[in-house]
Order: sequence, then C-alpha cells, then structure tokens
Amino acid sequence: MSVKGDAVTASGTGHVDGERLRDRIAVELARARARTTLLTEVVDDADLMRQHSPLMSPLVWDLAHVGNQEELWLVRDVGGREPVRCDIDELYDAFKQPRRDRPALPLLPPAEARAYLGTVRDKVHDLLDAVAFTDRPLVADGFAFGMIVQHEQQHDETMLATHQLRSGPAVLHAPSPPEPSVRVGGEVLVPAGEFTMGTDTDPWALDNERPAHRVDLPAYVIDAAPVTNGEFAAFIAEDGYGDQRWWSPAGWAHRLREGLEAPMHWRRDGDEWSYQRFGRWGRVRADEPVVHVCFYEAQAYAAWAGKRLPTEAEWEKAARWDPATGRSRRYPWGDDDPTEAHANLGQRHLRPAPVGAYPAGVSPLGVHQLIGDVWEWTSSTFDGHPGFTAFPYREYSEVFFGGDYRVLRGGSFGTDRSACRGTFRNWDYPIRRQIFSGFRCARDARPDESYR
Ligand SMILES: [Fe+2]
Repeated sequence: MSVKGDAVTASGTGHVDGERLRDRIAVELARARARTTLLTEVVDDADLMRQHSPLMSPLVWDLAHVGNQEELWLVRDVGGREPVRCDIDELYDAFKQPRRDRPALPLLPPAEARAYLGTVRDKVHDLLDAVAFTDRPLVADGFAFGMIVQHEQQHDETMLATHQLRSGPAVLHAPSPPEPSVRVGGEVLVPAGEFTMGTDTDPWALDNERPAHRVDLPAYVIDAAPVTNGEFAAFIAEDGYGDQRWWSPAGWAHRLREGLEAPMHWRRDGDEWSYQRFGRWGRVRADEPVVHVCFYEAQAYAAWAGKRLPTEAEWEKAARWDPATGRSRRYPWGDDDPTEAHANLGQRHLRPAPVGAYPAGVSPLGVHQLIGDVWEWTSSTFDGHPGFTAFPYREYSEVFFGGDYRVLRGGSFGTDRSACRGTFRNWDYPIRRQIFSGFRCARDARPDESYR
C-alpha cells in the first residue's frame, strides 16, 4: 500500500479515511517502538549508559530523546496536553547538548527512560483516538505523527551505527541479504532535459524535500550500481590513499590528520581485507557496496576512476525520472512503498546486499540499488529547494543550510522505509564515516554519447 493511497488530504478528511490514517499511524508508531526496544534491550544497562564513541550519544540518551520529542510535538503541541516532564527538556535537546558531552549529563537511568517512553506513548494513543485530522498543517495527513515516526526510526539508525562502534561480543543477528540474481555493472546515460525534483504531494515528506520544482540538467552518465568493495580495494591497491592527485586539499589534509588508509572497520588480512560488522569479523566481499567511507574518500575514488560524484539533482533524476511519462516517481520502481523485493532497508539485514540482488528495485533508466544498502554521498552541499519554507520549525532543516554539510541520498540497510523516499535528503559533515555511507560515480556525457 502506498502512503499516497492511505493519506487523507486536507480537503477530504472523511470519517473512513480518518480511521485508515489512524490505523496506519498506530502501526508505524508500533513498528518504530519495536525496533527501539530491540536495539536497547540486547545490551545491559552499563552498556546503554556508556559512550561507545565521542561521535555518538550513549544509547540511553537516544532512548529518552525519542520520548521527549514525541512528548513535545504530539502530547504538548498537537494535543495541547499537560507536560509529562518538562524538567528534562534541556537534557534531551540535541542543539543544547553536543554528543561528546552527553555521557556527563544527569541522564535518566534506563528503567526510568523506558517508563517515560511508555507514559508518553500511552498519552499519544489517547490523543490519536481523539484527534481530528483537520487542515491545521501540523495534523493534516497526520504529518506530526509521521514526523515523529520518522524521527524515532532515524534515531534507531543512529543507534544501529552506535552498535557498529561498540566493542564486545555480537548481540544483533539477522539473515544474510539476498544473493545477486542479475548482472549489474557499467554506466547508464541520462539524457539532457528537465525533471521534477522534490515533492508537494508526499504527505509525510519533510520541509527540506519540498516544494516540487523543475530542474534542467545536461546529459550525464551515472554508475548502474554503487561502488563495490572490490572496486574500492583496487583504488587502495593502486595507492589511491597515498596519491595526493586524487584528493581535494581539504580531503588530503583530513586523510593525513586521521591517517586514513581504508574504509572504517577494515583491516588487512594477508593479501586481502577483513571487516568488522556488529562484533563479527569476516572477509571483505568484493561485490558488496563499500560502506563506512567519508565524502573525501568517495571524492578521491571518483577522481581516480576518471569520474566525479553525482550532484544531488543527478542522483534524484536517475532515481525518479520516468522517460516514458516524463513524471517523477516516489521510488525508482514506482509509487508503491518499498517491499522486501525492492530494496535492502529497515535493518532486515545487517549489511549492504551484493550488487544485482534487487532487480525489482531498478529505476526506469536501469539504475540499481539507489534505495537501501548504503547512503550515497553526492557532491551537493545541503540547502533549501527553491521556494523552501521551514516547517514545523527552523531547527528541522534550515539551520543546517549553507554549512559544510554534504547531501546523502537513498537510505541504507539501516534506514526504515518510513524514513526513505526518492526525495528524502540526509546530510552530514564530509569527514563522517561512522554512518552507513557509500557512493556511486557519475560523469558528464561526451558529445558522442549525448546525441545518440
Ligand atoms: Fe533527534
């Protein structure tokens, strides 16, 4: 079922549609909470309170922060109800508390944090039973509920990244992703012309995905698949990390400062490479998309390969534009929500799937695995689409515009389908690689290619 099909438009808040929307919200809230519970119950209290990396919060901070945001937006703003606990608002304000300082805060202990989340969720269920989905922007189409579902799922992905950084025996288990069923490789030509970027119609799309607008691009060529471990290992073998020619000045300075020699979590294993995945070591698999590389590493690889990173608009056109109809789809495969057959999402597997594993997820132009597996670095800095309006608050997106952030697209194996669309935009500093980040390359089309 698609979000669109389920959504209630502001003009059509009929009783039946309202009930369907209520049911859908309840299902999505429960799915997010089940994942939060799993990620915070597989480790003991000491582990929850510990900071596994200065880049990350203790898991117990994320836990109570999820509840606090739910209280602020749903219980207080949408519901107009009495606060559950306003004494902790400051502690769980991501803007006031930098990650590195969070372990020193007087955080709620795990049992208290869980009880708090339970109390807030009970109130949200009360509210959901009674709420009228009027055209008030915060409640039209259940937007604030959708925002809170996505927020919790995004923190679940962050908590999954924290799990990848923790030491100790493996506590997370999942089946292997599917094996390749088609051969995928090479490049795809995207003809010159306009397409629609962003959205006006996806009811739970966030402010930075809006509005829909036309973008005209010259012809370009984009990789049919994300760059694989095997391809990245060739870059390492040819001394890609040691050759300054491939690196931007900022990237080279960062590489030297941090001593980067391979993707995060890789180590040499004789002539080959091994990587660590959630507490387990294994041989690097050549046909899997490379993950845990920063923007600078992606940029250097692309230069070495004689290419470049795609712009954000190039990524989105390759993912959404349907040459047969001229319209932009919600996802590469169409407008329907992702299923297991389309993409590797939602922590169903604990690693990217090999290239060729998701033929049903291919875009109309023949580009594979744009959604799921790994977030893909683009060359674009994070900014508002033309006509951007901050909603529901500037801190959601706008305060990050114009900074040193690069946009990542498409979601990873750790991204839930509720927080992943063809228009969804993620952003991070170019040095970050504890996230599930990979990339694909692009290049300008040559004249002989563009006029074919
Ligand atoms: Fe947050």
